[in-house]
Amino acid sequence: MIGPGLIVENLNAWYGDSHILQGVSLAIPQGAAAAILGRNGAGKTTTLKSIMGLTPRRSGSVRLGALKLDGLPPYRVARAGVAYVPEVRGVFSSLSVEENLTVSARATQGGWTLEQIFDRFPRLANRRNHGGNMLSGGEQQMLAIARALMTNGRLLMLDEPTEGLAPTIVEELSVLLRELLEDGLSLLLVEQNFTFATNLSKKIHVLGKGRIRWSGSASDLMKDEDITRTWLGV
Ligand SMILES: Nc1ncnc2c1ncn2[C@@H]1O[C@H](COP(=O)(O)OP(=O)(O)O)[C@@H](O)[C@H]1O
Ligand SMILES: [Mg+2]
Repeated sequence: MIGPGLIVENLNAWYGDSHILQGVSLAIPQGAAAAILGRNGAGKTTTLKSIMGLTPRRSGSVRLGALKLDGLPPYRVARAGVAYVPEVRGVFSSLSVEENLTVSARATQGGWTLEQIFDRFPRLANRRNHGGNMLSGGEQQMLAIARALMTNGRLLMLDEPTEGLAPTIVEELSVLLRELLEDGLSLLLVEQNFTFATNLSKKIHVLGKGRIRWSGSASDLMKDEDITRTWLGV
């Protein structure tokens, strides 16, 4: 499954009169990962929502390969190949794992089949008949990722996927995401977990007050005390 690259240029977003995103630009080559780090309120979630078309007002250019996504409603952005997993995972507790996967799935070109999902997510295969309410936090996160891929995942966008997860599950999630990258998926990760983000992604963007303040490699970021102190507070 080969995913085209994402190119975001001069993205702006507003909530009412508040100009939240102020010219965010970033690019993720096909099959690569990028992470956005930043303090609470920096605009990380708003960046993902704007790419999806979920903010009330936005401007700028968003392209996935040759496809222009800006101006499209969220369901069209999803169908074009952007699999978005919001911070609130939205697993249905009264439905089984399998029902959670199929309830919103529609036959989409490039979407994953149930069998492909269960091959890649053995933990979900073992629990396919379990209720959503019987899953651990880590399993719910994996189910939310799997469900997003069923619509047509070429670019996976995750909002703080490790939040609240035990360290062993965080490691398992990291292995899974690396496998998905090897499959050719692109990944845009929003994280507070510095180690998780820098292990998965060579390219880091530091977002502060709605602007990209720094972009570069994880190793360069760790050496830059001014940036980490001012914009990450570490
Ligand atoms: N629905 C909303 N209505 C108004 N303001 C919002 C809304 N969502 C977020 N904001 C504001 O936008 C800014 C960025 O928020 P957000 O993107 O959630 O930051 P982060 O994900 O980096 O913590 C914050 O100042 C926040 O208060
Ligand atoms: Mg957020």
